[in-house]
Amino acid sequence: MSVRRLAPQELQPASFAFTPENEAWVDQQIAKYPPGRQASAVIPLLWKAQEQAGGWVSQAAIEVIAARLGMAKIRVLEIATFYTMFNLEPVGKYFIQLCGTTPCQLRGAEAIRDVVKKRIGPERHVTEDGKFSWLEVECLGACCNAPMVQINADFYEDLTPEIMERIIDDLAAGKEVKPGPQNGRFSSEPEGGAQTLTDPALYDGSVIGSWKQRLAEEKAKLEAAKAAAAEAAAAAPAKS
Ligand code: FES
Repeated sequence: MSVRRLAPQELQPASFAFTPENEAWVDQQIAKYPPGRQASAVIPLLWKAQEQAGGWVSQAAIEVIAARLGMAKIRVLEIATFYTMFNLEPVGKYFIQLCGTTPCQLRGAEAIRDVVKKRIGPERHVTEDGKFSWLEVECLGACCNAPMVQINADFYEDLTPEIMERIIDDLAAGKEVKPGPQNGRFSSEPEGGAQTLTDPALYDGSVIGSWKQRLAEEKAKLEAAKAAAAEAAAAAPAKS
């Protein structure tokens, strides 16, 4: 985790204002909370400001949001700097968040990092054409499909260096890239098919659920024994 500071002044826009469409959306968010609790809308508003600005939150946006919610600027700044989902400096059109935590590391994240470094440059650097930037982040919660990256809102999983190269090539060429596992898996099922619980008997009722049949047989035996005893009692001569 690196220190999170606002972008330098030369990168900061002079002002920020929500678009009319986003203003209407902001009104709706604020209206969700009771009077006096408008500050609860701070995260949605920061998120919308980031989206509108192409992926990052400027100082001007923080100040506008603080004024809008009746909050001290420092409170909004604290939130923007605490949550890593808010970028504090410009990012590329395709912002790659590369997971470098242990499961991804063990599955080859370093080789993926080498590719993005080679293709894009150092962390946080935005390419000349504005298309790419990248950042190493902590676990993104897709460890079953390690190694993986998040690009904008989508996950790209089960990566190899070759696949990462291809994804960057395709995005650069404006081609559509399919998110999700890149090795043919549908989600996070075992590679090459299931290795456990493969006995068909598990699914035909002969193993799971066989206790029902055993209980029914035991009950029938018990009832037969009771009936035989009753019959024997009826057939026995009555005592005088
Ligand atoms: S360690 Fe990479 S997604 Fe969890």
